Amino acid sequence: MKNTIFDLKNRVFVVTGAAGLLGLNHVEAILEANGQVALFDIDPKVIKITEELSKRTGGTCMGLVVDITKEMEIISGLQAVEKKLGPVYGLINNAAYNAKMGEKKVKTTSARFEEFSLGQWENDLSVNLTGAFLMSKVIGSKIAKRKNGGVIINIASDLSVIAPDQRIYKKPGEKENTVVKPVTYSVAKHGLIGLTKYLSTYWADKGIRVNALSPGGVYNKDIDPKFVKKLINLIPMARMAMQDEYKGAIVFLCSDASSYMTGNNLVIDGGRSIW
Ligand SMILES: NC(=O)c1ccc[n+]([C@@H]2O[C@H](COP(=O)([O-])OP(=O)(O)OC[C@H]3O[C@@H](n4cnc5c(N)ncnc54)[C@H](O)[C@@H]3O)[C@@H](O)[C@H]2O)c1
Repeated sequence: MKNTIFDLKNRVFVVTGAAGLLGLNHVEAILEANGQVALFDIDPKVIKITEELSKRTGGTCMGLVVDITKEMEIISGLQAVEKKLGPVYGLINNAAYNAKMGEKKVKTTSARFEEFSLGQWENDLSVNLTGAFLMSKVIGSKIAKRKNGGVIINIASDLSVIAPDQRIYKKPGEKENTVVKPVTYSVAKHGLIGLTKYLSTYWADKGIRVNALSPGGVYNKDIDPKFVKKLINLIPMARMAMQDEYKGAIVFLCSDASSYMTGNNLVIDGGRSIW
């Protein structure tokens, strides 16, 4: 990709949750557009993933084990990135504790609202919302100080604009769901839209554009086909997303192709939230 508005040459990005399903696709998208990436994840496998990625693509990337709920870890992570790759231009807040509901091994049996513990509430929000706040505070502030432009992308969800349809999680014969999408997921994803709007105006004069990207349900091989059938019934395009279908949107939001866009939520959900 040469001299186009989509080119990310000489731009360094940090992607959180980069060892996960979508995070790795965001990273690949940036590398394919000539950008450089630091992969942050709490899971140590991020180091091996980054080595493999670097070999496979020849792109410039580095992996760091960072817990986004710990401000000091973010500060030292950023120092390491800027030392090796140079000034950071963009941040993708992608990491989340994401209960993948349709999977056979889903672990959210205690997520019913009546029994939802304060501990779980605080734990989920610390990753899914506070983590994005801390990352934006540390890295966004550094980008803002340079007054040289930059982007922040908050990865939300179709559940940032609609409520979960708990009926699709009900098991056969159940009067009442034993498994529900946790309240914290909705609250955090709506909260990320608030953070997006707040920062888009707060840092507009520093040239930082802040947008959200809201994916719909992404298919993976562990998802129960019976669940897929119920879910796609709610989606006009009648299918789940493939994991690489957000790459174009990531490059768009990271690049000058979206130069007049800020404070918005790009919803890419096969039309689910339209019905
Ligand atoms: N997969 C989907 O169907 C889907 C749909 C809509 C939105 N999303 C959103 O997309 C994003 C990525 O989802 P995914 O499916 O790739 O999730 P995933 O579970 O595959 O990956 C999440 C990654 O975040 C990391 N992480 C968790 N806590 C962390 C912490 N404290 N510090 C640093 N890293 C941490 C995990 O180790 C993991 O690698 C999430 O924000 C999710 O809510 C996903």
